[in-house]
Amino acid sequence: METKISEIADGIYRLSTYVPDIAPPTGFTFNQFLVLGDEPLMFHTGLRKMFPLNRDALRRILPPERLRWIGFGHFEADECGAMNEWLAVAPQATPAHGQTGCLVSLNDFADRAARVLNDGEVIDLGRGKRVRFIDTPHTPHGWDAGVLYEESTRTLMCGDLFTQLGNGRALTDGDIVGPAIVAEDLFKYSSLNPTMGTTLRDLAKLAPRTLALMHGPSFAGDGAAAVNALADEYDRRVSAVAFPRSAAA
Ligand SMILES: [Fe+2]
Ligand SMILES: [Fe+2]
Repeated sequence: METKISEIADGIYRLSTYVPDIAPPTGFTFNQFLVLGDEPLMFHTGLRKMFPLNRDALRRILPPERLRWIGFGHFEADECGAMNEWLAVAPQATPAHGQTGCLVSLNDFADRAARVLNDGEVIDLGRGKRVRFIDTPHTPHGWDAGVLYEESTRTLMCGDLFTQLGNGRALTDGDIVGPAIVAEDLFKYSSLNPTMGTTLRDLAKLAPRTLALMHGPSFAGDGAAAVNALADEYDRRVSAVAFPRSAAA
């Protein structure tokens, strides 16, 4: 396996590892995002067993010991499994997550105390980079789920939202909603819930210019339209479960 690095927005790097054995024959990518600044932040730690690969990849951009912040979407192995390995190599690094994630998981799991972020709270990384944590409980899954939004580049690091199969380009301006529907049909990874549409439409109000997908390409273009289209799709799915007779009519 190799990890490819691409700059998907000014000062934001995508580290992408393709695993052909997951969902063959298309395979599946695991992406981490590095936001440069005086206090560099990495979003997702990657799987614990992929740590040596990811550490060596990060080193091509900056010394891993310079990491200051480690964020992630929700408590799962690909999102934060290598947390403690990163904390061991980066003595200044602090995990950062929402209240639920810290109280339920990080307070026990992380080897170093986490910074607890309120919904909407910003970490100023310096050099113009500011990341805002936004609670998205159960969307797409995980009680503790949240996303990070980098304000200066209007980049939404949207974690598992828009998950897709395959190993496409690092950055696309093409359709990301259709491939996300294919992956949802296959994996059924989302916790369908009545507030999903509202949660997603609130993200669309940010009018993101770049959507940084954890599993798939990054998207450059009308992020609000893509997120609203995804909200419509999940509304349809939730209605089909909640009101099966009217969906069939
Ligand atoms: Fe996940
Ligand atoms: Fe994930």
